[in-house]
Amino acid sequence: MERVISGIRPTGNLHLGNYFGAVKNFVRMQDEYDCMFFIADWHSLTTHPTPENIRQSARTILAEYLACGIDPEKAPIYIQSDVKEVLELYLYLNMNAYLGELERVTSFKEKVRQQPDNVNAGLLTYPTLMAADILMHKADKVPVGKDQEQNMEMARLFARRFNRIYNIEYFKEPQNFYYTKQAVKIPGLDGSGKMGKSNGNCIYLFEDDQTITKKVMRAVTDAGPQAMNSEKPEVIQNLFTLMEAVSTPDTVAYFNDKWNTCEIRYGDMKKQLAADICATVAPIREKIEMYKNDDALLQRIANQGAERARERAAQTIKEVREIIGFRAN
Ligand code: TRP
Repeated sequence: MERVISGIRPTGNLHLGNYFGAVKNFVRMQDEYDCMFFIADWHSLTTHPTPENIRQSARTILAEYLACGIDPEKAPIYIQSDVKEVLELYLYLNMNAYLGELERVTSFKEKVRQQPDNVNAGLLTYPTLMAADILMHKADKVPVGKDQEQNMEMARLFARRFNRIYNIEYFKEPQNFYYTKQAVKIPGLDGSGKMGKSNGNCIYLFEDDQTITKKVMRAVTDAGPQAMNSEKPEVIQNLFTLMEAVSTPDTVAYFNDKWNTCEIRYGDMKKQLAADICATVAPIREKIEMYKNDDALLQRIANQGAERARERAAQTIKEVREIIGFRAN
C-alpha cells in the first residue's frame, strides 16, 4: 500500500473550510492508503509560542481530527516532537541545503517581509524540517495545498541530492497528492471568498447550533434576482456552494429553481442551510467534547502514534547513519 504522510500546522480550531477542504479527504484516504498524520509542533516554534499554547493546541488538534473521523488504528496520529529521530535527519539534510536556495523560498521571503524582527534560522530551514518529516517515512504521497508546493519541490530536491552525494538510490521522491481533482473550496459567510481564520468568516466545528444559526442568518445577500435564470452574484453563489457541501441534492435543486424563477426567499434558504450545517457539525462537536474531556485517551492515542512513527523513523535513521559513514547504533 502506498504511504501517505501529512503534517498539520497547529493553527487553532477546525472550521467547515478545513473539514470539507482537507480533513474529510484524510478520513477517506485512511481506508485506501497507509496513512500517518502528525501535528507539526516543531514547525510552530518559529513563532515562539508559550508552553501553554503548545500543550493546548496539540490537545485541540488531536481531539478535533479524531472527532472528524481519523481512526488511529488505521491512520496513526502523532505529535512531531515525540519522534526525535526526525531531528537527526533534519541535521543531515541541513548540511546539504544551501543558503541561497532556502532564501529563495517564497514563504520565507514573505515571512521576512511580515516579521523582519524574527527572521530566525528555523524559519529559513523550515523546508528541510518538512523534508525530514516526509523522507523519514519514505512517503509516496503528501496531500498538500497550493501553498506547500514549493516545500514539496524542496523535499524532492533534498532527496535527490542525498542520493547523488552518497551514490545510492535511497530516498524516493515524494509526490504531491491531490486526492480530489478539484479542491473543495468553502466560501465564507461575508461574501468575501474563502472561509479562513484570518478572514473572520468561519463556522467552527466546536460551535453550537445557536451560534452557527446566528452566523448563517447574518450572511450577506443581495436584493434578489432581477431576471429569470440569471447568473448568481458571488454572495449568493457562496450560499449555494455551502449548501452543496452540507445539504441533499434535492434541497439544492429546490432553491436553485426558486432562484431561477425569481421566487427565492433568502430567509428560507438560510434557515435550511443553517439546519443542514448544524446537522453536519453537531455529531462532530459532541465527539470533540468527548475527546477533550478524556485526556488519558488522547495521551494513549498520541503515544501509540508516536510508537508507530518511531519504528519507521528508527529504521530510516539507522540506514542513513550507515550510508553517511556513522555507526548505525
Ligand atoms: N508545512 C505544512 C503546512 O504549513 C505542515 C507540514 C509540516 C507538513 N511538515 C509536513 C505537511 C510534512 C506535509 C508533510 O501546512
